[in-house]
Amino acid sequence: ATALVGAAALLASWAGAAAASAAPAPAPKPARGVPGAPGAGDRYFANAGNGGYDVAHYDIALTYKPLTAPTPGRNAGRDAVIDAAVTITARATQRLSRFDLDFRGPRVSSVLVNGRRAAFRREGQELVVTPAAALPSGAAFTVRVRYAGRPRPMRSAAFGTYGWVPTRDGAVVLAEPDGAPTWFPANDHPSDKATYAFDVTVPKGLRVLASGRPAGTAARGAATAYRWVESAPMASYLAMIAIGRFTVRRSRAGSVPVITAVDPGFARAGAGLHRTTVRALTWATGVFGPYPFATAGGIVDDPPLDYALETQERPVYAGFAPDAGFVVHELAHQWFGGSVSLARWQDVWLNEGFATYAEWMWREHTGGTRARTVFRRYLAQPPGSPVFTPPPGRPERDSLFGLSVYVRGAMCLQALRERVGDEAFFTILRTWAAERRGSNATTPQFTALAERVAGRDLGPLFNVWLYTKGRPSKW
Ligand code: ARG
Ligand code: ZN
Repeated sequence: ATALVGAAALLASWAGAAAASAAPAPAPKPARGVPGAPGAGDRYFANAGNGGYDVAHYDIALTYKPLTAPTPGRNAGRDAVIDAAVTITARATQRLSRFDLDFRGPRVSSVLVNGRRAAFRREGQELVVTPAAALPSGAAFTVRVRYAGRPRPMRSAAFGTYGWVPTRDGAVVLAEPDGAPTWFPANDHPSDKATYAFDVTVPKGLRVLASGRPAGTAARGAATAYRWVESAPMASYLAMIAIGRFTVRRSRAGSVPVITAVDPGFARAGAGLHRTTVRALTWATGVFGPYPFATAGGIVDDPPLDYALETQERPVYAGFAPDAGFVVHELAHQWFGGSVSLARWQDVWLNEGFATYAEWMWREHTGGTRARTVFRRYLAQPPGSPVFTPPPGRPERDSLFGLSVYVRGAMCLQALRERVGDEAFFTILRTWAAERRGSNATTPQFTALAERVAGRDLGPLFNVWLYTKGRPSKW
């Protein structure tokens, strides 16, 4: 690349010298820079993420204030406000006259850029920030956003209830795919991962858990501040806090601290959740390679959502006590989704197909049905079954978490395993996790890696399993 740039520069300077006298005046450079794009260019979420900068770190300082005391049978978490200051450390990737953050939360009172007051306005999910002076390309800068009020979850037919979700005694966050802006201003796309610090103040008697490792508590009058730190890069939808009353358990799986917590309504499930998490983590580390984060765990809380999310280091199970298969699924996501993250939502089978396949492997490992048998049972479903449609490599937005992404995605991995053999297959999984650790990747990058490890053309196999309509019959 350097040689090419050098040659082009030489050519340009030569042409410039020859035409010096005849050349028209160059177009004036916009002194104020160029506005950052309102989206990251994702086909499925036009406004998710933004252009013109890269976030390195989010510092989220938030005070949670219940307006009514928790009473049995009543959702007190809905009757609460937050008061927050979020400081974002970022780097401009162009000369920036203004830029967007994604934010759907309560009223913003001020925005500071590099400590100076910036103009801002809200437009749908965009918080448009105009700094007092343009930001030079390549410059590091900070944005501090203050806001207060009542956060609200998002609801849709495709994704259910998500984002900031009130509970009986607090709140919990499950934000996949685009719910992070319900509670903090973000560059809300998994392609821009960052580190996080959470500093959450709650009335005495309540507790806070979050993504990452615990970093202490501090008394603040009648309240307690809980600090958690996520020092591995994290996608915004995986950032989690849980506020409420919890029974917390701690131990280790090998050298990894495991912290689990259950809402009092699930008290009887607590010991089982902890034991299963430790067991599954130990097994998964053997299969996928070193665990990519500082701590692990899980949280069972009460909003009746009936799904789980692989929030980083500490998945959330919302409204149910998970069985071992569910725990294995969310733990597998720590490698596939958490550590190796999507570059575009279209490739979500790289998360869900892999996590579902982990469930099949766990079943095999614990003496249950073998993965090849599960595969054959699904393959015997009628061609019109939702197991096969849409093809998982191009699911479209509303089917991101549809059955075919999970099941046919896992079937694709079983087809791969049978084609290349166990040794190459597990080398592919481990190499994927190791080479892409802490970063982002696409489906073509996965298939290229599989071909490299297996030393053969796998194009037709992936094409049939990921992109071809109907029930695969030949691959
Ligand atoms: N990734 C989650 C899981 O399979 C599913 C999240 C679905 N999101 C939603 N808003 N329903 O574990
Ligand atoms: Zn999943």
